[in-house]
Amino acid sequence: MKVAVLISGRGSNMENLIKASQLSNNRIQIVQVLSNRKDAPGIKVAQQLGVATEVIEHSTFDSRNSFEEKLTSSLENGGAELICLAGFMRILSPDFVTRWHNKLLNIHPSVLPAFKGLNTHKRAIEAGARFSGCTVHFVRPNMDAGPIILQAITPVKSGETATQLAQRILHLEHQCYPLAVDWIAKGAVSIVNEQVILDDWLEPCQSIT
Ligand code: GRF
Repeated sequence: MKVAVLISGRGSNMENLIKASQLSNNRIQIVQVLSNRKDAPGIKVAQQLGVATEVIEHSTFDSRNSFEEKLTSSLENGGAELICLAGFMRILSPDFVTRWHNKLLNIHPSVLPAFKGLNTHKRAIEAGARFSGCTVHFVRPNMDAGPIILQAITPVKSGETATQLAQRILHLEHQCYPLAVDWIAKGAVSIVNEQVILDDWLEPCQSIT
């Protein structure tokens, strides 16, 4: 399955997806990495791993629509069958999301539907949440909403900072995203009434530690 990854920054999830795709028994090929920021550190990482990159700077377009048209034409030219948002910091319009319906994934650093949006770790700590984690989901027009494929959780430790929690959850993200993409590539994920149904034979989620 041909996969494109959209980034805006560091790109550690992207790096992980590329490395997972380069393992011998993998079913996915990362065909391109697109960034809306030319200074995103992840661009160099992708290039070093041998993946084609393209910068499509949103700030050089006169509207969200024209920016997204360019994104779509690059994705179509690259042959993307699945698109992974990985720290892509632009809100995508309903038109774009509809164009890529059920082919657009996101990873979010909370257990959705809790803590949508930014600063999730700080807000989870301030709310006294006992657990937090991450979610891989299909993208729908509403922010951080859509059928959930996979979640992993971890206890919020007493006294830990948002940075410490973010680091531990990032470790979970790096396991969840390649796993979710692999499930899709295997054809093991279907959506019924806006809920994800997984094939019975999938590895249990508890194997993520
Ligand atoms: C991750 O925490 C991801 O869940 C969120 O943005 C962050 C991106 O980190 N959407 P990275 O660029 O993948 O390192």
